[in-house]
Amino acid sequence: MITILWILCIAATVLILIGFLSCRVLKTVRYTVTFDNLPDAWNGRRILLFADLHGASYGKDNQKLFDRIKNEDPDIVLVPGDLVTCYEKNIRKKKSAAQFIRRISETFPTYFSPGNHERKLLETYGSLGITYSELKKLMGEKIHILENQSTDVDGIRITGLDLPLTYYERFRAPELTTDAITERIGTKTDAFTVLLAHHPDYAPSYAAWGAELTLSGHNHGGIVRLPFLGGVISPRLKLFPKYDHGLFFEKDRCEVVTSGAGSHSVPIRLGNLPEIVIITLKKGQI
Ligand SMILES: [Fe+2]
Repeated sequence: MITILWILCIAATVLILIGFLSCRVLKTVRYTVTFDNLPDAWNGRRILLFADLHGASYGKDNQKLFDRIKNEDPDIVLVPGDLVTCYEKNIRKKKSAAQFIRRISETFPTYFSPGNHERKLLETYGSLGITYSELKKLMGEKIHILENQSTDVDGIRITGLDLPLTYYERFRAPELTTDAITERIGTKTDAFTVLLAHHPDYAPSYAAWGAELTLSGHNHGGIVRLPFLGGVISPRLKLFPKYDHGLFFEKDRCEVVTSGAGSHSVPIRLGNLPEIVIITLKKGQI
């Protein structure tokens, strides 16, 4: 009996160690997504997506992550939220994440929309060490911050959805209706639209609103990923989140869910390395 307990303890320690070290190994995931109404100018262009950095650092001043992104030479960088961890006491981590994205935005056209952690900074007025407006100032002048706003780029529309914290609640989150989306970001136009929407679980609503391509994060890939079952638990303790990682289709609408580039609370990942994502857009029959 004691031998079995020892074996279990050693196995648990090894798994925790692997999970801890896994948070420091960044992978690059690649997808190609095809749309029949993609403007010709975007055929073959490459989006670099990352989310949920949560103040993580890859090398001093995030130089390794910067080099990884620079080597990919994307046409555009899209960041749907959670650059920082709102309750992180080390303010330097928040500042360094903001300065990192500032550097990215000085190199590539970069668009950001807030996640629940930025939203929390906004709603707590700086009681967490730094205000949202201070964070945005550190993100620099070049970055496009889309808070329920849209901008047109070479014939496509990029829209950032910024939801109040109530939509992130663990048990009593309201339904996100298409009317509630329209109230925030307006009616979908004819333009091919890339929607930055941090919370992935509302995928059917984003598709019903009309976004051709939605980019999300938030569930961290389910933190521990098991073969056949996928992600086990979200950072908000939702078991087996459906929208954990990868491509999800609602008819001809697509949501890409990234498992994120960082971690918070419990810095452990198993079978689920942090990632950046390259999405190549193609025009053609789906
Ligand atoms: Fe989040």
